[in-house]
Amino acid sequence: MMRVAVLVSGGGSNLQAILDAKARGELPQTELCLVLSSAHGAYALERAEKAGVPSEVCSPKDYADRSAYTDAILEILQKHRIEAVVLAGFMFMLSPQFAEKYENRALNVHPALIPSFCGPGYYGLKVHEYALAAGVKVSGATVHFVTAETDAGPIIAQKAVEILEDDTPEVLQRRIMEQCEWILLPRALALLSEGKITVENGRVHIDN
Ligand code: GRF
Repeated sequence: MMRVAVLVSGGGSNLQAILDAKARGELPQTELCLVLSSAHGAYALERAEKAGVPSEVCSPKDYADRSAYTDAILEILQKHRIEAVVLAGFMFMLSPQFAEKYENRALNVHPALIPSFCGPGYYGLKVHEYALAAGVKVSGATVHFVTAETDAGPIIAQKAVEILEDDTPEVLQRRIMEQCEWILLPRALALLSEGKITVENGRVHIDN
């Protein structure tokens, strides 16, 4: 079993997708050991409690800078003997030492088809506002490995949805969460925990 932590900051709908997949028996090689939130009172913490998963809060406000915050996060992960990490709506960029420690062992879900609408400043609802403003006909979500650069790690999985005439950013965000993020993230975690993902020259190979 791979000992996994899920890092969250807010609502935790992606965490819930992972919890539900686990309950359905779709993550046999994954042990959800910890939910680590950057914010007290995040609804994701209630989701963890209902599912009986231990949780901790580590707020960036309590640390002088990004590096000190990252060290604190790594210390908590070490304490729980975490082998792989899922960033699920986690809203803080960690320092390179995180990506080094969890190289090809940390997943992130981004609500766009990387390399579109990604990188610094592209997060939350803004991503969908940019997509609609650009007039693209499809958008979607990407699950990728975390590297030191924002949203730039090897791509594991992507799923697209049509953009409809009267879409608002909120409607598009919800469609991408429901039809892309909540499907891709548990599936990628299952593949990772089953040892079915390899990375060669920055490209991901999946043994289906
Ligand atoms: C989601 O759109 C996710 O793609 C982004 O943060 C948003 C909220 O995620 N990273 P969650 O509901 O907290 O999982």
